[in-house]
Amino acid sequence: MCGIVGYVGPRIATPMLIEGLKRMEYRGYDSAGVALLGDDGVDLRRAKGKIAALESTVATRPIEGTTGIGHTRWATHGAPSEKNAHPQRDCTGTIAVVHNGIIENYTVLRKRLIEAGHVFKSDTDTEVLAHLIEAAFKGNLEEAVTEALNLVEGTYGIAVISSQDPDKIVAARKGSPLLIGLGDGENYVASDVAAILQHTRQVVYLDDGEMAVLTPTTYRVFDLEANDVPKNVNRIDWDLEQIEKGGFEHFMLKEIFEQPQTIENTMRGRLVTEEGFSKLGGLNLTKQEMLDLEHIIITACGTSWHSALIGKLMIEDLARIRVDVEYASEFRYRNPIVDDKSLCVVISQSGETADTLAAMREAKRRGAKTLGLVNVVGSTIAREDDGGIYLHAGPEIGVASTKAFTSQVIALTLLTLKLARLRALSVEKGRAIAQAMEALPAQVQQILENAAAVEAIADRFRDATNFLYLGRGYNFPVALEGALKLKEISYIHAEGYPAAEMKHGPIALIDENMPVVFIAPHDSVFEKVVSNISEVKARGGRVIVITSREEPSLAGKIDFEIRIPETIDMLYPVLAVVPLQLLAYYIAAKRGLNVDQPRNLAKSVTVE
Ligand code: AGP
Repeated sequence: MCGIVGYVGPRIATPMLIEGLKRMEYRGYDSAGVALLGDDGVDLRRAKGKIAALESTVATRPIEGTTGIGHTRWATHGAPSEKNAHPQRDCTGTIAVVHNGIIENYTVLRKRLIEAGHVFKSDTDTEVLAHLIEAAFKGNLEEAVTEALNLVEGTYGIAVISSQDPDKIVAARKGSPLLIGLGDGENYVASDVAAILQHTRQVVYLDDGEMAVLTPTTYRVFDLEANDVPKNVNRIDWDLEQIEKGGFEHFMLKEIFEQPQTIENTMRGRLVTEEGFSKLGGLNLTKQEMLDLEHIIITACGTSWHSALIGKLMIEDLARIRVDVEYASEFRYRNPIVDDKSLCVVISQSGETADTLAAMREAKRRGAKTLGLVNVVGSTIAREDDGGIYLHAGPEIGVASTKAFTSQVIALTLLTLKLARLRALSVEKGRAIAQAMEALPAQVQQILENAAAVEAIADRFRDATNFLYLGRGYNFPVALEGALKLKEISYIHAEGYPAAEMKHGPIALIDENMPVVFIAPHDSVFEKVVSNISEVKARGGRVIVITSREEPSLAGKIDFEIRIPETIDMLYPVLAVVPLQLLAYYIAAKRGLNVDQPRNLAKSVTVE
């Protein structure tokens, strides 16, 4: 999504604005720009395309100033272009705005402003904000911004500067993340901590409905009624090298190889192996509330929705609580049955996905307790839920989610243990699950050490046009996830299906050009999957099998085998997904595609 960065202090802001925008490139964008306070107004430099285009514009026409804002735009209103890039200015050229989010009533506001004589230069909803602030300006920038925002419907994270009220940045957030970075004699604003981490680790997260005014030496947070709002200062522990690629060609590959460590981190301090249960400090649910639970909804999007499907199987199997898994985008607009006996589990790596956030708010409105399984500390979902389990997977930069998925499955397993040991699960079975969990990091490492074998298979199928992924039980969601990984970074069409469903239609697709990936570890449904493999082979299909042991019944049926270690059924997704992540990665990389920033995609979909 779009990225915001701003600086106010004694130094020339231009280089750090551009560097900050670069740190957010992974979020996906199609134009970029900066604005700085100059002697005669606000100076702009903007460019369509990548930040390199902006850099060459600045090199050709240098721009300086000690107060500035920058933006990377992912177009929602108005095609990607220089004129539609942010920052956007008012008629006088003395006020500049950068904006993440959508102004839903911008058409009405734009018409009213044009009737009042304002001249628009872009097709964006954001420009309306610049003119609203201009119309309200009477010498104090924060007062003008407040008045303007009271007219706005929709979502925003904004930063505003003006040469008529210099040496300050006004920031505001409603539905789109924004934070303040506190420096020594200088201050920052950003939509993503990565943009300013090299300058400060002290940040203040804004919440919806809050504004802030930054000067080089002060900051103040207040609400739209101008009441001061006390805020905590958070210290960010992530180091930049965690955010850098660490020697890998792409962030995605780095994050796939981080999984032994990130799975460990998600479990750290939360498994009581001897007792076979989990310690989850942030649930904010009493034992009685957990015992009274009659219904759990798990809502999410994309990869997070796939892990939700696995959570359903675990919780129903072991805790015997009914679980409904809902696409957040569907849940938020239908009339679901939710009450105070419901727990709404919300899964989101970014903690900012608009549909997921809205679904959580809808569940809360209907009386449900909410529990966020989130990776990004301090994200909106993490701050609005009633309780949570942080994934502790570290920053996930690649747009295709990998380590977050495996950490989500681990977090769901921890939650299942917690609930199940309050009910029917014995200490012996709980202990067996905990022990199997503790073995996972080394087992994932073992799979990663065999990455070259997966790369060789990727080489054979890099030019395929269609893929089918098939699995049963706990591995049906893994089939969905494997297909999503492939299609979102290689642009090859891929479908995930329950293996048995294939004969109800998809089997018509089978021929020698259709690679079929079977997730077939030696679990309780293994023999059934072997039958499905036979069906595909009998029709000339080419079969790639992820399996966990040498199996006579598979002899002669497999064209390509990828071996994974043995574990318990419910944990096979953590192991089986890794070769699928690698397969997708290597195919996309061999196709010369932008693996970390695939076309049309953004890391966090903060608009609906
Ligand atoms: C997964 O690889 C995709 N990038 C996408 O489906 C993602 O999982 C989805 O947008 C949800 O994101 P979230 O977990 O940050 O809410």
